[in-house]
Amino acid sequence: MKIQDSHFILTGASGGIGRAIAMQLASAGASLTLVGRRLEPLETLLQSLNHQENHRVLVADIASAEGIATITDYARQAIVEQRRINGLINNAGCNDFALLSSKQPHQIEQEIRLNLLAPIMLCQSLVDLLSQPGVILNIGSTFGSIGYPGYTTYCAAKAGLHRFTEALDRELNGSGIRALYLAPRATDTALNSHAVNQLNHQLGNAIDSPEYVAKHVQAVLEKEISAKWIGWPEKLFARINQIFPNMVSTGIHKQHTIIHQYIHKMSQERRCE
Ligand SMILES: NC(=O)c1ccc[n+]([C@@H]2O[C@H](COP(=O)([O-])OP(=O)(O)OC[C@H]3O[C@@H](n4cnc5c(N)ncnc54)[C@H](OP(=O)(O)O)[C@@H]3O)[C@@H](O)[C@H]2O)c1
Repeated sequence: MKIQDSHFILTGASGGIGRAIAMQLASAGASLTLVGRRLEPLETLLQSLNHQENHRVLVADIASAEGIATITDYARQAIVEQRRINGLINNAGCNDFALLSSKQPHQIEQEIRLNLLAPIMLCQSLVDLLSQPGVILNIGSTFGSIGYPGYTTYCAAKAGLHRFTEALDRELNGSGIRALYLAPRATDTALNSHAVNQLNHQLGNAIDSPEYVAKHVQAVLEKEISAKWIGWPEKLFARINQIFPNMVSTGIHKQHTIIHQYIHKMSQERRCE
């Protein structure tokens, strides 16, 4: 799709990756509706974008029914005012690096709600309101393809998001709307705690900048790539995990002691907060 003069609703706009996506797409000539729960960081971001007057901010908690309704009403009103919305980028997300046994039920529910249910509800509410050609881009994760200790519920949500996107794209065939999926690997944002960053360093995992992820977002939109995984060897492991999961399990088992050491560290960090 053509980015220039297209309008995108972007969730999680004030976060690390969201902010970089906003800067990237605004520089490419798109206009944006920046969604998040807090007005102040959205307004700060708005002021830093090219052609501020083309962009808007929208405060909504997408983990609530009210938040979904706020965005849906906003999109309906845009149509009444003859403003086109060409795309929805479901980027807001959260995770909690912890053993399943130590999570509270409400934390599990929140992770599934924000990473899976909210994007599904937004797709359902907005798909008929997008102008054609239009696009939905769901931001997943490498962990949507590889089950990893400490991320059980996040992996479940992102795997669900991947399969949902694939099914929706097939369902929308011929409608003029595409549903696409992009899976970043570890990225340098506030999503990752100090303990998680240390774990990534110790395991030698590459950490991308949000700007690097944003460039991939632009490419996925422009080329309408159905699904893309950022980075080697993550891309390769995602494929091997589908065919030979035991091979990946063996590799992860070797990291067991280190992973558990940092999960423990993380729970100590949380106790100090
Ligand atoms: N960072 C990584 O290593 C990494 C790797 C792979 C995939 N990802 C994925 O990339 C996406 C962006 O992550 P990030 O690293 O940029 O995270 P981040 O810096 O923590 O930003 C998260 C964003 O989501 C918003 N948000 C959180 N809860 C919300 C809610 N209930 N309603 C509306 N907005 C909400 C936050 O804004 P408010 O708090 O103001 O609402 C913030 O703008 C996520 O889907 C994540 O799973 C990240």
